[in-house]
Amino acid sequence: MTVLVTGGAGYIGSHVVRELEQRTEVVVVDDLSSGSADRVRGHEVVVLDLADQSAPGRLQEVMSTRGVDAVVHLAARKQVGESVQRPAWYYQQNVGGLANVLLAMERAEVRELVFSSSAAVYGDVATGGRPVREDDPCQPVSPYGQTKLVGEWMCRAAGEAWDLRWTALRYFNVAGAATPELGDPAATNLIPLVLRAVVAGQRPQIFGADYDTPDGTCLRDYVHVQDLARAHIAALEHVGSAGYGTTSHREFNVGTGHGSSVSEVVSEIRRATGRTTDAEVVSRRPGDPASVVADPGRIRADLDWSAEHGLDEMVASAWRAWPHGHARVS
Ligand code: WQD
Repeated sequence: MTVLVTGGAGYIGSHVVRELEQRTEVVVVDDLSSGSADRVRGHEVVVLDLADQSAPGRLQEVMSTRGVDAVVHLAARKQVGESVQRPAWYYQQNVGGLANVLLAMERAEVRELVFSSSAAVYGDVATGGRPVREDDPCQPVSPYGQTKLVGEWMCRAAGEAWDLRWTALRYFNVAGAATPELGDPAATNLIPLVLRAVVAGQRPQIFGADYDTPDGTCLRDYVHVQDLARAHIAALEHVGSAGYGTTSHREFNVGTGHGSSVSEVVSEIRRATGRTTDAEVVSRRPGDPASVVADPGRIRADLDWSAEHGLDEMVASAWRAWPHGHARVS
């Protein structure tokens, strides 16, 4: 079996490639705009901008010459704030990129796809504090989240039109690294931002401590990138199995079912790094929901997947992957 991974040289993609290469042939496609060939040593990277008008033809050729059986499509722009500033570009990149992947798959007769979606499809879902389920309403509040929801619709339509077999994995808050080289220090999420602050001797910021949550700070469902990578293997097995039928679920939350507060994450980082700098509570960040926690019941039942790593391992591995992290521990 041969699996083509778009965005394979990125943070999540390189973890997926690591899991896949133990089992199958892998073809890595990436535009290297934020990914790096160093993350996937031993693999030739097919450098290709998926949103370019030449992409369907070039991808189709790669699929045919390499004998591709299935695609894991992760290549996308993923910064929520940037998507608010540049919505049309996000649609062009994320929706246009997936459209070109689907065109190439149809022409090359590749019928199995795992699509990288996001908890951002839910928006500020009012569940009254309970974990969010796949059949809760999807009302994305950012153009980024919209492009992921439209992506799911495109997959569904292709399933109906030409029998695409697909699943969409809705990632919650991804963190950690399998090995130091595979970390994501440039990310603009909570854990890298707090690590950056403590390394610089600055106070990390907590965006609001007056939420209706146990300690007043926001709750999120942090999932280890290695666990997430394994979810792609389970999803690929599912789309390729006889058990995949018209009544099968297509969308799956990928989270632990456990919410961690911003304060708990900051405490865990202080413990892991030995830096005792106090955090500073600043005003809320606009658009942040109080609580976003996955109900992982469906993926456990249908794909037999559950998370194995906890927040402590995510923080410890992100710290090990921090550039020269250990050398700087005082
Ligand atoms: C986590 C919590 C912040 C930085 C986003 C996307 C989501 C997904 C993951 C891609 C929030 C708080 C943060 C800081 C803080 N992306 N925070 N101080 O917003 O939950 O999710 O990234 O699919 O779609 O929306 O992640 O890491 O930015 O924030 O207090 O310096 O940490 O307010 O409560 P978020 P995040």
